[in-house]
Amino acid sequence: MKLIVDFANLDRIKEMYAYYPIDGVTTNPSILAKEGKNPYEVLKAIRKFIGKDAELHVQVVSKDAESMVREAHKIQQELGPSTYVKVPVSREGLKAIKALAAEGTNITATAVYTQMQAYLAGKAGASYAAPYVNRIDNIGADGIKVAKDIHDIFKKNDLKTEVLAASFKNSQQVLELAKYGVGAATVAPDVIEGLIKLDAVDCAIKAFTKDFEKLCGEGKTMLDC
Ligand code: G3P
Repeated sequence: MKLIVDFANLDRIKEMYAYYPIDGVTTNPSILAKEGKNPYEVLKAIRKFIGKDAELHVQVVSKDAESMVREAHKIQQELGPSTYVKVPVSREGLKAIKALAAEGTNITATAVYTQMQAYLAGKAGASYAAPYVNRIDNIGADGIKVAKDIHDIFKKNDLKTEVLAASFKNSQQVLELAKYGVGAATVAPDVIEGLIKLDAVDCAIKAFTKDFEKLCGEGKTMLDC
């Protein structure tokens, strides 16, 4: 499972890349709005930092298919041809996905709440489909089950589309999908940080340090022996 960071603040993205094994960056209009700057300015800086071939996902906001396709062309022109264009899986979105797939565009089908949306997006040629795990839970359904079902539907129907699960609020949700081996999870920085937050680990490390200092002196490490 690839681990992608769902954020647009460059300093925070840099920090996440420094500490964690991150495979790319996803954004959406709400995430970009938090930066309060021209979206291309923000996205170009992210692209420059992650490199021209790294995964960067950027969403269209147009309402009709033809405008979505034009918007996708502009996104790829500004941010490079490897950029994944996120298209919401509505009726118009599916039409745009079909047209963009025919041109060979990398597409992430987004705003996925149901298995059937993902199946249709996969058939239409999307590279990824993004079920919103926590938002699905919040409407009384089972986000993990939807994501797992979508993974199975892709495999059983010989579709090359992968799950890019999104909208996580806790470590358990990420763990469940890692165990299932879905293609990717895109996770906000705070939730990624939570994946390794454990008092028991801190205590174990402190005890090792204390024992070593008893042996070699305060502040000493293997460098000093
Ligand atoms: O981009 C879609 C997804 O990341 C949304 O996450 O946390 O707003 O539900 P969230």
